[in-house]
Amino acid sequence: MESITLTMPLDMHLHLRDGEMLETVAPLTSYSFSGALVMPNLVPPVTTKEMVKEYRKRIKHAIGRDDFEPYMTLFYQNYSREFLESVQNEITAIKIYPSGATTNSEGGVVSFDIEPMRETLQAMSDLGIILSVHGETNGFVMDREAEFMSVYEKLALNFPKLKIIMEHITTADAVAMLDKYDNLYATITVHHLIITLDDVAGGMLRPHLFCKPIAKRPEDRAALLKVALSAHPKVMFGSDSAPHPKHTKESCGCGAGVFTAPIALQLLCEVFEAHDQLGNLQAFVSDNAQRIYGICAEFKEVVLVKHDFVVPEIYGTVVPMKAGETLKWSIERVD
Ligand code: NCD
Ligand code: ZN
Repeated sequence: MESITLTMPLDMHLHLRDGEMLETVAPLTSYSFSGALVMPNLVPPVTTKEMVKEYRKRIKHAIGRDDFEPYMTLFYQNYSREFLESVQNEITAIKIYPSGATTNSEGGVVSFDIEPMRETLQAMSDLGIILSVHGETNGFVMDREAEFMSVYEKLALNFPKLKIIMEHITTADAVAMLDKYDNLYATITVHHLIITLDDVAGGMLRPHLFCKPIAKRPEDRAALLKVALSAHPKVMFGSDSAPHPKHTKESCGCGAGVFTAPIALQLLCEVFEAHDQLGNLQAFVSDNAQRIYGICAEFKEVVLVKHDFVVPEIYGTVVPMKAGETLKWSIERVD
């Protein structure tokens, strides 16, 4: 196949930041996607209705076009049912972070004991608000996601009607959960389909590939590829594109995050084609998300062709994954 048309691609896990960074990165996603689930880990995090509405306005302004919808999220705290009722039309999901697990997550939860969270989670379940989860413990870095599986089980069993998204899964353990609990779903990034820990730290240290959760073992990547390439009905694409300025990545104390927004669809074509599964890309990158989230995306058709694309060295202050390298697919046009 020399060309593919993707209808209404969606990125169900995206960091757009704020200010100048927002201005740089938002148009890169809105060019080729119909919508994205926008993460709330700003400084300070997005925790009020006013903050959601104002942030959405700033995003819309940075994008300057109508064919893209930012699906907004709140940063999890123990919210009252009354508050959730008042904000439900402004948000698509609430994102919960373990405190300190990743960039700007200091205000996250310290414990996943169910009882203190029951009122909020039950209200979310009743109101149909999706729970999006950064699933890592504070254990040994390679084991953090696997150790978190018992938390997913507890959440899934206590709130059987609550839709729970295991964000950016990186392990075979997380993949196995999909078929165990009806209400567990997952997003998968494109970089976790390509790299393992070896690419990050096996040779020279590659700060632009350093992210949370850290890329794992070849067998984990194989498990992720299997469900992504077959477009398992409970998995969706979520880039977790997470821009950090170059000087903060190429420094002592490099921030976690891989910036893939401008190359995500091209790279996905490359991965799916390499495994002869281009036919399943539409479901992975849009149809599954529309069904799981119950959203009707803005119309957009993206035509990609098998034509070299040389990835720019930098976008504003941010170095993308594959900077300076040549990808096999490029975006020909967007209708
Ligand atoms: C994200 C960021 O920079 O905001 N970083 C990352 O490594 N993925 C936060 C996150 O999703 O963990
Ligand atoms: Zn993220």
